[in-house]
Amino acid sequence: ILTIAVLHLGNNATIPVSIFSPKSYIVWSGVQDAMFQWWYGHNAVGFFLTAGFLAMMYYFVPKQAERPVYSYRLSIIHFWALIFLYIWAGPHHLHYTALPDWAQTLGMVFSIVLWMPSWGGMINGLMTLNGAWEKIRTDPIIRMMVMSLAFYGMSTFEGPMMSIKAVNSLSHYTDWTIGHVHSGALGWNGMVTFGCLYYLAPRLWGRERLYSLRMVNWHFWLASAGIVFYASAMWVSGIMQGLMWREYGADGYLVYSFVETVDAMFPMYLIRAFGGLLYLTGAIVMTVNIWKTIAGSPLRQEAPMTETPYNPEADRPAVAVPAE
Ligand code: HEM
Ligand code: HEM
Repeated sequence: ILTIAVLHLGNNATIPVSIFSPKSYIVWSGVQDAMFQWWYGHNAVGFFLTAGFLAMMYYFVPKQAERPVYSYRLSIIHFWALIFLYIWAGPHHLHYTALPDWAQTLGMVFSIVLWMPSWGGMINGLMTLNGAWEKIRTDPIIRMMVMSLAFYGMSTFEGPMMSIKAVNSLSHYTDWTIGHVHSGALGWNGMVTFGCLYYLAPRLWGRERLYSLRMVNWHFWLASAGIVFYASAMWVSGIMQGLMWREYGADGYLVYSFVETVDAMFPMYLIRAFGGLLYLTGAIVMTVNIWKTIAGSPLRQEAPMTETPYNPEADRPAVAVPAE
């Protein structure tokens, strides 16, 4: 909350033309303005789409898994490393622009370094399931949280890779970026939010459990399939678009006009729309489920998620007490 406020104020610093004029200009000029905007833009990813959702992850994953967080110390390192590193990553949005080269390289290097704490945090979340891994079989809410962590890991690997200038020269301005955005937004932010909502609903309204666990499972698969269709369509479309843009013929002219690239991307847009539809359907299933939970409808009679119920013994074999 604090960081986003600071970013917002910094990004919107303006001076009025005169005391009585409603018109004002941004304080930063030209390339400084661009840099300020991406300092703001990237930290919206870092402090809103990452830090806020990590707080949810660190609270609700241990709750749902009924296990303590794997490493409290690692979470502290994760937090301060993100705070320190994210601030510098903005210039990776301005590769090959008028921004001085050293600033672009600085942004690239900090973005690559960001990979480490991001994966530290992902591993911290996943390892919290130590002693509760068996729940992936029986508890679709845990499954959802694990999937969200997998997407957190995936998008924070993809991001540093796209920050490398040579990679960015292909990915920038293309749908690859859109694929990256949504593997983070739908996979990480979306999935962890659904997990938290499923955890909260029965507790907030004092119900025995959710109306239906099978519906959570449906939501899980619809959302996962939706993201896969969305992201893979955008990777194909983005890389194709990037390659077509840079294709020169023997005569030195560009081989493709812009409209030809748009035309080639059309099938991918249909696949993206289909993926989005699946994701939306999953969200509707969730809405019905939570609505019924709140309304106190009789719990849905359904077969358990698996024939063999959760067996904590299988997850937590008796630990031998070390000899004195
Ligand atoms: C270590 C972590 C990450 C790094 C280093 C990173 C890096 C990048 C890079 C290089 C781009 C493309 C810039 C361009 O060519 O224009 C990008 C775009 C973007 N990323 Fe990430 N990313 C990371 C994680 C995430 C996550 C977790 C999310 C969302 C939850 C996210 C959301 C976005 C968005 C929204 C854009 C598009 C911005 C725009 O141009 O509108 N990123 N990121
Ligand atoms: C089913 C769900 C969703 C669908 C179908 C969808 C679709 C789209 C589409 C078509 C665009 C425009 C991309 C372009 O310029 O070609 C877009 C942009 C964007 N969406 Fe989504 N979206 C969904 C959910 C979300 C969510 C949940 C978030 C955030 C948490 C999000 C964040 C963004 C951002 C940041 C952009 C701008 C990306 C950029 O221009 O670099 N989207 N989305």
